[in-house]
Amino acid sequence: MKKLKILTYGCQMNVADSERMEGLLRGIGYTRIENFEDADLVLINTCCVRETAEDKAFGKIGELKRLKSKKPSMILGVTGCMAQKEGENLIKRAPHLDFVLGTGQISEIARVVEGIETLRGQVVDISNVDGKTEIEKISPIRAGSVSTFIPIMYGCNNFCTYCIVPYVRGRERSRSPEEIFDEIKEAVNSGFKEITLLGQNVNSYGKGTNTNFAQLLAEVDKISELERVRFMTSHPKDLSDEVIEIMSSGKKICEHIHLPVQHGSDKILKKMNRVYTAEKYLNLVEKIRAKIPDIALTTDLIVGFPGETEEDFAELLDFIRKVRFDAAFTFIYNKRSGTPAAIFPDQIDEKIKIRRIEELIAAQNEISLEKNLTMKDKVFEILVEGESKTDKNVFTGRTRTNKLVLFRHGNEKPGDLVKVKITQPQTWLLKGVRVDEKITG
Ligand code: SAM
Ligand code: SF4
Ligand code: F3S
Repeated sequence: MKKLKILTYGCQMNVADSERMEGLLRGIGYTRIENFEDADLVLINTCCVRETAEDKAFGKIGELKRLKSKKPSMILGVTGCMAQKEGENLIKRAPHLDFVLGTGQISEIARVVEGIETLRGQVVDISNVDGKTEIEKISPIRAGSVSTFIPIMYGCNNFCTYCIVPYVRGRERSRSPEEIFDEIKEAVNSGFKEITLLGQNVNSYGKGTNTNFAQLLAEVDKISELERVRFMTSHPKDLSDEVIEIMSSGKKICEHIHLPVQHGSDKILKKMNRVYTAEKYLNLVEKIRAKIPDIALTTDLIVGFPGETEEDFAELLDFIRKVRFDAAFTFIYNKRSGTPAAIFPDQIDEKIKIRRIEELIAAQNEISLEKNLTMKDKVFEILVEGESKTDKNVFTGRTRTNKLVLFRHGNEKPGDLVKVKITQPQTWLLKGVRVDEKITG
Protein backbone atom coordinates (compact mmCIF):
# COMPACT_ATOMS: atom_id res chain seq x y z
CA MET A 1 0.00 0.00 0.00
CA LYS A 2 1.22 3.48 -0.87
CA LYS A 3 0.71 6.20 1.73
CA LEU A 4 -1.15 9.44 1.20
CA LYS A 5 -1.21 12.55 3.37
CA ILE A 6 -3.88 15.16 2.52
CA LEU A 7 -3.87 18.59 4.12
CA THR A 8 -7.07 20.54 3.52
CA TYR A 9 -7.41 24.30 3.92
CA GLY A 10 -10.47 26.45 3.30
CA CYS A 11 -14.17 25.70 3.31
CA GLN A 12 -16.40 22.62 3.37
CA MET A 13 -16.26 22.48 -0.43
CA ASN A 14 -12.56 21.72 -0.15
CA VAL A 15 -13.24 19.07 2.50
CA ALA A 16 -15.71 17.42 0.10
CA ASP A 17 -13.17 17.64 -2.77
CA SER A 18 -10.43 16.09 -0.61
CA GLU A 19 -12.73 13.17 0.23
CA ARG A 20 -13.29 12.59 -3.49
CA MET A 21 -9.61 12.83 -4.35
CA GLU A 22 -8.92 10.29 -1.62
CA GLY A 23 -11.60 8.07 -3.20
CA LEU A 24 -9.82 8.22 -6.57
CA LEU A 25 -6.38 7.70 -5.08
CA ARG A 26 -7.60 4.68 -3.12
CA GLY A 27 -8.36 3.21 -6.56
CA ILE A 28 -4.65 3.32 -7.46
CA GLY A 29 -3.45 1.92 -4.15
CA TYR A 30 -3.11 4.85 -1.74
CA THR A 31 -4.29 4.83 1.89
CA ARG A 32 -4.47 7.90 4.04
CA ILE A 33 -2.04 8.44 6.91
CA GLU A 34 -1.68 11.29 9.39
CA ASN A 35 2.01 12.23 9.23
CA PHE A 36 3.94 13.79 6.39
CA GLU A 37 7.23 11.94 6.93
CA ASP A 38 5.97 8.49 5.87
CA ALA A 39 3.90 9.71 2.92
CA ASP A 40 4.59 8.64 -0.68
CA LEU A 41 2.18 11.31 -1.88
CA VAL A 42 1.39 14.63 -0.17
CA LEU A 43 -1.56 16.72 -1.34
CA ILE A 44 -2.14 20.27 -0.21
CA ASN A 45 -5.72 21.25 -1.03
CA THR A 46 -5.67 25.03 -0.87
CA CYS A 47 -7.88 28.11 -0.36
CA CYS A 48 -7.32 31.67 -1.57
CA VAL A 49 -10.31 33.52 -0.14
CA ARG A 50 -7.97 35.68 1.96
CA GLU A 51 -4.22 36.22 1.92
CA THR A 52 -3.81 34.42 5.26
CA ALA A 53 -5.18 31.23 3.69
CA GLU A 54 -2.59 31.47 0.92
CA ASP A 55 0.22 32.26 3.37
CA LYS A 56 -0.55 29.10 5.32
CA ALA A 57 -0.40 26.96 2.19
CA PHE A 58 2.80 28.63 0.93
CA GLY A 59 4.36 28.12 4.38
CA LYS A 60 3.52 24.41 4.30
CA ILE A 61 4.78 23.99 0.72
CA GLY A 62 8.06 25.65 1.78
CA GLU A 63 8.37 23.40 4.83
CA LEU A 64 7.92 20.30 2.69
CA LYS A 65 10.94 21.18 0.54
CA ARG A 66 13.27 19.72 3.16
CA LEU A 67 11.27 16.50 3.42
CA LYS A 68 11.21 16.18 -0.37
CA SER A 69 14.99 16.63 -0.65
CA LYS A 70 15.48 13.84 1.94
CA LYS A 71 12.98 11.62 0.12
CA PRO A 72 12.97 12.56 -3.60
CA SER A 73 10.52 9.76 -4.50
CA MET A 74 7.79 11.54 -2.54
CA ILE A 75 5.21 13.16 -4.87
CA LEU A 76 4.04 16.60 -3.80
CA GLY A 77 0.93 18.16 -5.36
CA VAL A 78 -1.13 21.29 -4.84
CA THR A 79 -4.86 21.36 -5.65
CA GLY A 80 -7.82 23.62 -4.92
CA CYS A 81 -8.52 27.32 -5.24
CA MET A 82 -4.99 28.69 -4.83
CA ALA A 83 -3.77 26.14 -7.39
CA GLN A 84 -6.47 27.39 -9.76
CA LYS A 85 -5.52 31.01 -9.17
CA GLU A 86 -1.75 30.63 -9.36
CA GLY A 87 -1.21 27.78 -11.86
CA GLU A 88 2.34 27.90 -13.34
CA ASN A 89 3.39 30.56 -10.83
CA LEU A 90 3.30 27.95 -8.09
CA ILE A 91 5.82 25.75 -9.87
CA LYS A 92 8.02 28.80 -10.52
CA ARG A 93 7.86 29.77 -6.88
CA ALA A 94 8.22 26.21 -5.57
CA PRO A 95 10.08 24.08 -8.16
CA HIS A 96 10.02 21.09 -5.80
CA LEU A 97 6.30 20.64 -6.57
CA ASP A 98 5.37 17.72 -8.85
CA PHE A 99 1.93 18.92 -9.87
CA VAL A 100 -0.62 21.70 -9.65
CA LEU A 101 -4.26 20.81 -10.38
CA GLY A 102 -7.05 23.37 -10.52
CA THR A 103 -10.58 23.01 -9.15
CA GLY A 104 -11.98 21.74 -12.47
CA GLN A 105 -9.42 18.96 -12.79
CA ILE A 106 -9.40 17.10 -9.51
CA SER A 107 -11.20 14.19 -11.18
CA GLU A 108 -7.90 13.72 -13.08
CA ILE A 109 -5.84 13.27 -9.94
CA ALA A 110 -5.30 9.51 -10.20
CA ARG A 111 -4.20 9.76 -13.85
CA VAL A 112 -1.83 12.62 -13.06
CA VAL A 113 -0.28 10.82 -10.08
CA GLU A 114 0.15 7.59 -12.06
CA GLY A 115 1.83 9.55 -14.85
CA ILE A 116 4.29 11.09 -12.39
CA GLU A 117 4.93 7.72 -10.72
CA THR A 118 6.07 6.27 -14.04
CA LEU A 119 7.56 9.17 -15.97
CA ARG A 120 8.27 11.81 -13.29
CA GLY A 121 8.18 15.39 -14.69
CA GLN A 122 5.91 18.23 -13.61
CA VAL A 123 2.23 18.73 -14.44
CA VAL A 124 0.19 21.95 -14.31
CA ASP A 125 -3.48 21.74 -15.30
CA ILE A 126 -5.96 24.48 -14.43
CA SER A 127 -8.31 23.93 -17.34
CA ASN A 128 -12.04 23.22 -17.22
CA VAL A 129 -12.80 25.54 -14.28
CA ASP A 130 -16.34 26.13 -15.57
CA GLY A 131 -16.92 22.79 -17.14
CA LYS A 132 -18.97 19.79 -16.25
CA THR A 133 -16.53 17.67 -14.32
CA GLU A 134 -16.71 14.02 -13.51
CA ILE A 135 -16.03 14.80 -9.87
CA GLU A 136 -19.68 14.34 -8.92
CA LYS A 137 -19.62 10.69 -9.94
CA ILE A 138 -16.68 9.80 -7.70
CA SER A 139 -17.29 7.91 -4.46
CA PRO A 140 -15.66 9.84 -1.63
CA ILE A 141 -13.85 8.40 1.35
CA ARG A 142 -15.60 10.35 4.04
CA ALA A 143 -13.93 11.80 7.09
CA GLY A 144 -15.82 11.23 10.36
CA SER A 145 -18.72 8.87 10.93
CA VAL A 146 -21.70 10.96 12.02
CA SER A 147 -22.00 14.03 9.83
CA THR A 148 -20.94 14.55 6.22
CA PHE A 149 -21.08 17.05 3.35
CA ILE A 150 -22.99 16.49 0.13
CA PRO A 151 -22.15 19.03 -2.60
CA ILE A 152 -25.30 19.85 -4.56
CA MET A 153 -23.76 22.50 -6.80
CA TYR A 154 -20.44 23.96 -7.81
CA GLY A 155 -19.25 27.47 -8.64
CA CYS A 156 -20.85 30.86 -8.09
CA ASN A 157 -22.47 33.50 -10.31
CA ASN A 158 -22.80 36.30 -7.81
CA PHE A 159 -19.52 38.17 -8.19
CA CYS A 160 -19.58 40.01 -4.87
CA THR A 161 -16.94 42.65 -5.54
CA TYR A 162 -14.56 41.48 -2.78
CA CYS A 163 -14.69 37.77 -3.57
CA ILE A 164 -12.32 35.54 -5.54
CA VAL A 165 -14.51 32.43 -5.44
CA PRO A 166 -16.34 32.93 -8.80
CA TYR A 167 -12.94 33.23 -10.52
CA VAL A 168 -11.47 30.07 -9.03
CA ARG A 169 -14.61 27.90 -8.90
CA GLY A 170 -16.23 28.93 -12.18
CA ARG A 171 -19.90 29.40 -13.02
CA GLU A 172 -22.71 27.85 -11.05
CA ARG A 173 -23.58 24.24 -11.99
CA SER A 174 -26.18 22.09 -10.20
CA ARG A 175 -25.89 18.32 -9.80
CA SER A 176 -28.87 16.23 -10.80
CA PRO A 177 -31.24 15.28 -7.97
CA GLU A 178 -30.76 11.59 -8.85
CA GLU A 179 -27.01 11.83 -8.30
CA ILE A 180 -27.51 13.72 -5.06
CA PHE A 181 -29.97 11.12 -3.71
CA ASP A 182 -27.65 8.27 -4.69
CA GLU A 183 -24.87 9.94 -2.77
CA ILE A 184 -27.04 10.62 0.29
CA LYS A 185 -28.22 7.00 0.31
CA GLU A 186 -24.66 5.76 0.10
CA ALA A 187 -23.71 7.99 3.07
CA VAL A 188 -26.75 6.90 5.09
CA ASN A 189 -26.01 3.23 4.35
CA SER A 190 -22.52 3.68 5.72
CA GLY A 191 -23.98 5.04 8.99
CA PHE A 192 -24.03 8.83 8.62
CA LYS A 193 -26.85 10.45 10.59
CA GLU A 194 -26.53 14.04 9.46
CA ILE A 195 -25.85 15.61 6.08
CA THR A 196 -25.09 19.17 5.06
CA LEU A 197 -26.09 20.09 1.52
CA LEU A 198 -23.29 22.25 0.17
CA GLY A 199 -22.98 25.05 -2.36
CA GLN A 200 -21.83 28.67 -2.48
CA ASN A 201 -25.49 29.67 -2.79
CA VAL A 202 -27.71 26.63 -2.28
CA ASN A 203 -30.89 28.67 -2.66
CA SER A 204 -30.30 29.08 -6.37
CA TYR A 205 -29.92 25.29 -6.77
CA GLY A 206 -31.66 23.64 -9.68
CA LYS A 207 -30.89 25.53 -12.87
CA GLY A 208 -30.75 22.98 -15.68
CA THR A 209 -32.48 20.32 -13.54
CA ASN A 210 -36.19 19.69 -13.07
CA THR A 211 -36.24 20.78 -9.46
CA ASN A 212 -35.47 23.71 -7.14
CA PHE A 213 -33.87 23.91 -3.70
CA ALA A 214 -37.16 23.82 -1.77
CA GLN A 215 -38.27 20.69 -3.63
CA LEU A 216 -34.89 19.06 -3.10
CA LEU A 217 -35.04 19.80 0.65
CA ALA A 218 -38.57 18.41 0.88
CA GLU A 219 -37.44 15.15 -0.73
CA VAL A 220 -34.32 14.87 1.43
CA ASP A 221 -36.49 15.37 4.52
CA LYS A 222 -38.29 12.12 3.62
CA ILE A 223 -35.17 9.91 3.79
CA SER A 224 -36.09 7.76 6.76
CA GLU A 225 -32.66 6.70 8.02
CA LEU A 226 -31.42 10.29 8.17
CA GLU A 227 -31.71 12.14 11.50
CA ARG A 228 -30.73 15.67 10.51
CA VAL A 229 -30.41 17.79 7.38
CA ARG A 230 -28.48 21.06 7.16
CA PHE A 231 -27.47 23.28 4.26
CA MET A 232 -25.05 26.07 3.50
CA THR A 233 -24.53 28.70 2.29
CA SER A 234 -27.70 30.75 1.70
CA HIS A 235 -27.57 34.07 -0.13
CA PRO A 236 -30.25 36.40 1.31
CA LYS A 237 -31.36 37.43 -2.17
CA ASP A 238 -32.39 33.86 -3.05
CA LEU A 239 -33.85 32.46 0.18
CA SER A 240 -37.45 31.84 -0.92
CA ASP A 241 -40.71 31.65 1.03
CA GLU A 242 -41.00 28.08 -0.23
CA VAL A 243 -37.71 27.14 1.48
CA ILE A 244 -38.82 28.79 4.74
CA GLU A 245 -42.09 26.87 4.51
CA ILE A 246 -40.34 23.52 3.96
CA MET A 247 -38.00 24.27 6.86
CA SER A 248 -40.90 24.94 9.18
CA SER A 249 -42.83 21.83 8.17
CA GLY A 250 -39.86 19.46 7.67
CA LYS A 251 -38.91 17.07 10.47
CA LYS A 252 -35.22 16.58 9.83
CA ILE A 253 -34.28 20.01 8.52
CA CYS A 254 -32.48 21.66 11.42
CA GLU A 255 -33.48 25.04 12.84
CA HIS A 256 -30.37 26.87 11.70
CA ILE A 257 -29.61 29.13 8.75
CA HIS A 258 -26.20 30.50 7.94
CA LEU A 259 -27.23 33.69 6.15
CA PRO A 260 -24.18 35.85 5.41
CA VAL A 261 -25.14 39.53 5.43
CA GLN A 262 -21.56 40.89 5.12
CA HIS A 263 -22.50 44.44 6.21
CA GLY A 264 -25.25 46.61 7.67
CA SER A 265 -24.77 49.79 5.64
CA ASP A 266 -26.71 50.08 2.37
CA LYS A 267 -23.89 52.06 0.81
CA ILE A 268 -21.36 49.29 1.52
CA LEU A 269 -23.80 46.50 0.56
CA LYS A 270 -24.27 48.19 -2.79
CA LYS A 271 -20.53 48.52 -3.36
CA MET A 272 -20.18 44.85 -2.44
CA ASN A 273 -22.81 43.95 -5.09
CA ARG A 274 -24.90 42.06 -2.54
CA VAL A 275 -28.13 43.31 -4.19
CA TYR A 276 -30.20 43.70 -1.00
CA THR A 277 -30.54 46.46 1.58
CA ALA A 278 -30.24 46.18 5.35
CA GLU A 279 -33.99 46.67 5.61
CA LYS A 280 -34.70 43.86 3.15
CA TYR A 281 -32.47 41.55 5.16
CA LEU A 282 -34.24 42.53 8.40
CA ASN A 283 -37.61 41.80 6.79
CA LEU A 284 -36.36 38.41 5.70
CA VAL A 285 -35.17 37.65 9.25
CA GLU A 286 -38.57 38.66 10.61
CA LYS A 287 -40.30 36.37 8.14
CA ILE A 288 -38.02 33.45 9.05
CA ARG A 289 -38.50 33.99 12.79
CA ALA A 290 -42.27 34.23 12.43
CA LYS A 291 -42.37 30.83 10.72
CA ILE A 292 -39.59 29.11 12.68
CA PRO A 293 -39.47 30.73 16.13
CA ASP A 294 -36.57 28.67 17.52
CA ILE A 295 -34.33 29.25 14.48
CA ALA A 296 -30.65 30.04 15.06
CA LEU A 297 -29.17 32.56 12.66
CA THR A 298 -25.48 32.88 11.95
CA THR A 299 -23.71 35.16 9.51
CA ASP A 300 -20.47 36.38 7.93
CA LEU A 301 -19.38 40.01 8.38
CA ILE A 302 -16.61 41.99 6.70
CA VAL A 303 -15.09 45.15 8.22
CA GLY A 304 -12.82 47.60 6.46
CA PHE A 305 -14.32 47.28 2.99
CA PRO A 306 -13.10 50.18 0.78
CA GLY A 307 -14.92 53.40 1.62
CA GLU A 308 -16.27 52.19 5.00
CA THR A 309 -16.60 55.32 7.14
CA GLU A 310 -17.08 55.50 10.91
CA GLU A 311 -20.78 56.07 10.19
CA ASP A 312 -20.97 52.93 8.03
CA PHE A 313 -19.24 50.94 10.75
CA ALA A 314 -21.64 52.33 13.37
CA GLU A 315 -24.50 51.17 11.11
CA LEU A 316 -22.99 47.70 11.07
CA LEU A 317 -22.84 47.59 14.89
CA ASP A 318 -26.38 48.87 15.06
CA PHE A 319 -27.49 46.28 12.55
CA ILE A 320 -26.06 43.27 14.38
CA ARG A 321 -27.71 44.51 17.59
CA LYS A 322 -31.03 44.65 15.73
CA VAL A 323 -30.75 41.18 14.19
CA ARG A 324 -29.12 39.52 17.21
CA PHE A 325 -27.30 36.72 15.39
CA ASP A 326 -26.48 33.60 17.38
CA ALA A 327 -22.92 33.79 16.07
CA ALA A 328 -20.93 35.52 13.34
CA PHE A 329 -17.73 34.81 11.43
CA THR A 330 -16.00 38.16 11.25
CA PHE A 331 -13.39 39.03 8.64
CA ILE A 332 -11.12 41.93 7.90
CA TYR A 333 -11.52 42.92 4.26
CA ASN A 334 -8.58 41.58 2.28
CA LYS A 335 -7.71 42.75 -1.24
CA ARG A 336 -7.88 39.93 -3.78
CA SER A 337 -6.27 40.96 -7.02
CA GLY A 338 -8.53 40.52 -10.02
CA THR A 339 -11.66 41.36 -8.02
CA PRO A 340 -13.28 44.79 -8.54
CA ALA A 341 -12.91 45.94 -4.92
CA ALA A 342 -9.13 45.49 -5.02
CA ILE A 343 -8.88 48.64 -7.14
CA PHE A 344 -11.60 50.64 -5.39
CA PRO A 345 -10.29 53.94 -4.00
CA ASP A 346 -10.47 54.66 -0.24
CA GLN A 347 -8.88 51.42 0.93
CA ILE A 348 -8.96 51.39 4.73
CA ASP A 349 -5.88 51.61 6.91
CA GLU A 350 -4.97 48.28 8.61
CA LYS A 351 -4.97 49.83 12.09
CA ILE A 352 -8.51 51.07 11.61
CA LYS A 353 -9.59 47.67 10.32
CA ILE A 354 -8.16 45.97 13.40
CA ARG A 355 -9.84 48.40 15.78
CA ARG A 356 -13.16 47.88 14.00
CA ILE A 357 -12.99 44.10 13.98
CA GLU A 358 -12.18 44.06 17.70
CA GLU A 359 -15.22 46.23 18.41
CA LEU A 360 -17.39 44.10 16.18
CA ILE A 361 -16.27 40.84 17.82
CA ALA A 362 -16.87 42.29 21.31
CA ALA A 363 -20.38 43.41 20.32
CA GLN A 364 -21.24 40.04 18.75
CA ASN A 365 -19.77 38.05 21.67
CA GLU A 366 -22.04 39.92 24.04
CA ILE A 367 -25.07 38.97 21.93
CA SER A 368 -23.95 35.34 21.50
CA LEU A 369 -23.53 34.97 25.27
CA GLU A 370 -26.90 36.57 26.01
CA LYS A 371 -28.55 34.21 23.54
CA ASN A 372 -26.81 31.15 24.96
CA LEU A 373 -27.70 32.16 28.55
CA THR A 374 -31.38 31.81 27.65
CA MET A 375 -30.69 28.08 27.07
CA LYS A 376 -29.63 27.51 30.70
CA ASP A 377 -31.52 24.72 32.51
CA LYS A 378 -33.33 23.75 29.31
CA VAL A 379 -33.06 20.31 27.71
CA PHE A 380 -31.95 19.86 24.08
CA GLU A 381 -31.61 16.97 21.67
CA ILE A 382 -27.92 16.46 20.95
CA LEU A 383 -26.40 14.46 18.12
CA VAL A 384 -23.27 12.95 19.67
CA GLU A 385 -20.12 13.58 17.62
CA GLY A 386 -17.38 11.99 19.76
CA GLU A 387 -14.76 12.58 22.42
CA SER A 388 -13.62 16.10 23.11
CA LYS A 389 -10.07 16.74 21.87
CA THR A 390 -8.89 17.85 25.31
CA ASP A 391 -10.72 15.45 27.67
CA LYS A 392 -11.51 11.81 26.94
CA ASN A 393 -14.28 11.82 29.55
CA VAL A 394 -16.12 14.59 27.81
CA PHE A 395 -18.20 14.12 24.66
CA THR A 396 -19.18 16.79 22.16
CA GLY A 397 -22.32 17.08 20.12
CA ARG A 398 -24.60 19.67 18.57
CA THR A 399 -28.11 20.94 19.09
CA ARG A 400 -30.39 21.10 16.08
CA THR A 401 -29.56 24.81 16.07
CA ASN A 402 -25.88 23.85 15.51
CA LYS A 403 -24.60 24.91 18.95
CA LEU A 404 -21.66 22.95 20.28
CA VAL A 405 -22.43 21.13 23.56
CA LEU A 406 -19.95 19.42 25.90
CA PHE A 407 -21.13 16.83 28.42
CA ARG A 408 -19.67 14.06 30.59
CA HIS A 409 -19.37 10.80 28.71
CA GLY A 410 -21.74 8.01 29.75
CA ASN A 411 -22.81 5.00 27.67
CA GLU A 412 -23.40 6.93 24.45
CA LYS A 413 -21.49 6.59 21.22
CA PRO A 414 -20.99 8.85 18.20
CA GLY A 415 -24.20 9.07 16.18
CA ASP A 416 -26.57 8.66 19.16
CA LEU A 417 -29.25 11.25 19.84
CA VAL A 418 -29.34 12.08 23.56
CA LYS A 419 -30.97 14.67 25.78
CA VAL A 420 -28.72 17.13 27.56
CA LYS A 421 -29.64 19.80 30.07
CA ILE A 422 -27.56 22.95 29.65
CA THR A 423 -25.88 23.91 32.92
CA GLN A 424 -23.12 26.31 31.84
CA PRO A 425 -23.74 28.33 28.71
CA GLN A 426 -20.70 30.19 27.37
CA THR A 427 -20.10 32.46 24.37
CA TRP A 428 -18.90 29.78 21.95
CA LEU A 429 -20.16 26.55 23.54
CA LEU A 430 -22.52 25.14 26.11
CA LYS A 431 -21.74 22.70 28.90
CA GLY A 432 -24.42 20.35 30.12
CA VAL A 433 -25.41 17.01 31.65
CA ARG A 434 -27.23 14.00 30.19
CA VAL A 435 -30.75 13.82 31.52
CA ASP A 436 -32.15 10.58 30.16
CA GLU A 437 -31.47 7.44 28.24
CA LYS A 438 -30.60 7.66 24.56
CA ILE A 439 -33.33 8.72 22.15
CA THR A 440 -31.89 6.56 19.38
CA GLY A 441 -28.72 4.70 18.57
N1 SAM B 1 -20.79 31.76 -0.77
C1 SAM B 1 -20.74 32.06 0.60
C2 SAM B 1 -21.38 33.43 0.81
O1 SAM B 1 -21.96 33.98 -0.06
O2 SAM B 1 -21.31 33.91 1.92
C3 SAM B 1 -19.35 31.93 1.19
C4 SAM B 1 -18.28 32.68 0.54
S1 SAM B 1 -16.67 32.75 1.23
C5 SAM B 1 -16.11 31.16 1.00
C6 SAM B 1 -16.91 32.90 2.96
C7 SAM B 1 -16.82 34.28 3.48
O3 SAM B 1 -15.54 34.83 3.29
C8 SAM B 1 -17.73 35.29 2.82
O4 SAM B 1 -19.05 35.20 3.27
C9 SAM B 1 -17.10 36.60 3.19
O5 SAM B 1 -17.58 37.08 4.42
C10 SAM B 1 -15.63 36.22 3.36
N2 SAM B 1 -14.78 36.82 2.32
C11 SAM B 1 -14.80 36.56 1.00
N3 SAM B 1 -13.89 37.32 0.35
C12 SAM B 1 -13.29 38.08 1.29
C13 SAM B 1 -12.27 39.08 1.25
N4 SAM B 1 -11.71 39.45 0.11
N5 SAM B 1 -11.88 39.65 2.41
C14 SAM B 1 -12.46 39.29 3.57
N6 SAM B 1 -13.41 38.36 3.67
C15 SAM B 1 -13.84 37.76 2.54
FE1 SF4 C 1 -18.24 34.92 -3.00
FE2 SF4 C 1 -20.50 36.26 -3.09
FE3 SF4 C 1 -20.27 33.96 -4.43
FE4 SF4 C 1 -20.39 33.94 -1.78
S1 SF4 C 1 -22.02 34.63 -3.15
S2 SF4 C 1 -18.94 32.82 -3.06
S3 SF4 C 1 -19.32 35.80 -1.21
S4 SF4 C 1 -19.15 35.86 -4.84
FE1 F3S D 1 -13.63 27.58 -0.30
FE2 F3S D 1 -11.45 29.02 -0.06
FE3 F3S D 1 -12.09 28.05 -2.38
S1 F3S D 1 -13.32 29.39 0.98
S2 F3S D 1 -14.29 27.87 -2.41
S3 F3S D 1 -11.56 26.88 -0.54
S4 F3S D 1 -11.25 30.08 -2.02
